[in-house]
Amino acid sequence: MKYQHIVLGVTGGIAAYKSPDLVRRLREQGAKVRVVMTQGAQQFVTPLTFQAVSGHSVHTTLLDAQAESAFGHIDLARWADGVLIAPASAQALAKLAQGFADDLLSTLCLATQAPIYVAPAMNQQMWKAPATQRNCQLLRQHGVTFLGPAEGAQACGETGAGRMLEPLDIVEQLSHTTSASPLANKKVLITAGPTREDIDPVRFISNRSSGRMGYAVAQAAHALGAEVQLISGPVNLTPPAGVSRIDVYSAQDMLNAVQQQLSGTDIFIATAAVADYRPAQQAAQKIKKNNTQASLELEPTPDILAWVSAQTKAPFTVGFAAETHDVAEYAKRKLAHKKLDMIAANQVGLADQGFDSAYNALTLFWQNPNGLIEEHALALTDKFHLAQQLLESVMQRYQKKILTISAR
Ligand code: C5P
Repeated sequence: MKYQHIVLGVTGGIAAYKSPDLVRRLREQGAKVRVVMTQGAQQFVTPLTFQAVSGHSVHTTLLDAQAESAFGHIDLARWADGVLIAPASAQALAKLAQGFADDLLSTLCLATQAPIYVAPAMNQQMWKAPATQRNCQLLRQHGVTFLGPAEGAQACGETGAGRMLEPLDIVEQLSHTTSASPLANKKVLITAGPTREDIDPVRFISNRSSGRMGYAVAQAAHALGAEVQLISGPVNLTPPAGVSRIDVYSAQDMLNAVQQQLSGTDIFIATAAVADYRPAQQAAQKIKKNNTQASLELEPTPDILAWVSAQTKAPFTVGFAAETHDVAEYAKRKLAHKKLDMIAANQVGLADQGFDSAYNALTLFWQNPNGLIEEHALALTDKFHLAQQLLESVMQRYQKKILTISAR
């Protein structure tokens, strides 16, 4: 554990019942922990509980003459080498984003030079709310690192993104997500899996993508310290711990989700096998068989990747090209045509590799500053190791691009 002096801020939310366990887990890693509770937090758990597990009295008020003379907000702010807020309520995020200083926790967050981590916990609708997302974006710009939230069943009975990460996952991420982590404070947006384009209420057009490559890239990016947002078509996979997932169905749904999530994204990786065509009309009722030839009129789907790379402040954009033949040629054309920073090409149609397999091989192509196309081959291996190597190359190219832009 990099941090030896952690101030744990506990704010008002039902997930606060997990925070005493978090204190224990942090102490197991050798960290000293001082707990600061908001008024709201004290409605859920008592300061006495935290005093017992941290071995120190708990800080609850800003203007406490006794505390100020002994260990006040400036002392706490200086003492901390890391500040962790878990659970971080929507209110806590809003206050932090706006720089409020009306209680002990918000004040010490302004006063500290230590890195700040937040583990959000709230109802999924509150997490999705534009105001919350805007606050999160601001906080990321201020260098705050997000741990989670996770997806799943919530105390309120709803299901979705907004659950606080489990204490062990928070500790694990805190160990990885140090400022030395190559992708710390970077947001990586990933599309994965196939899309489905409905013909009628029971039939659709899709493909054999399993989503495994995208999920492996998400896991590898998370391990490198990134905040990862996965946008996934229908697949049979659970999202890696700490990765937030939005489920989509069609190419249009995927585009909508990407458009909603793009702001603040540093790196966009399009691993999804988006259907290129959809039925021009969707029948409202099941189409009946009548033993004559039938034909389906198709129209192109929106190109999500091309839309992202065409944005004025486009992130570092990586596309995938799955081809059955002339792989390199098509990939290079796509690199130029879709104005990508990098393309990862793979051959499909081979046994036990690529689509619907745990293994794959990739060739990466990008354009160097002299306009020449460079390439780097990644040999056949399991998709997680392949994803790690892909991200190594992405990070190198991304750093160079950032340096070039800032030198201008
Ligand atoms: O043009 P093609 O489908 O071969 O391009 C593949 C790349 O473009 C992949 O990265 C895929 O995720 C992305 N794509 C997209 N939206 C589409 C079609 C492809 O984002 N409608």
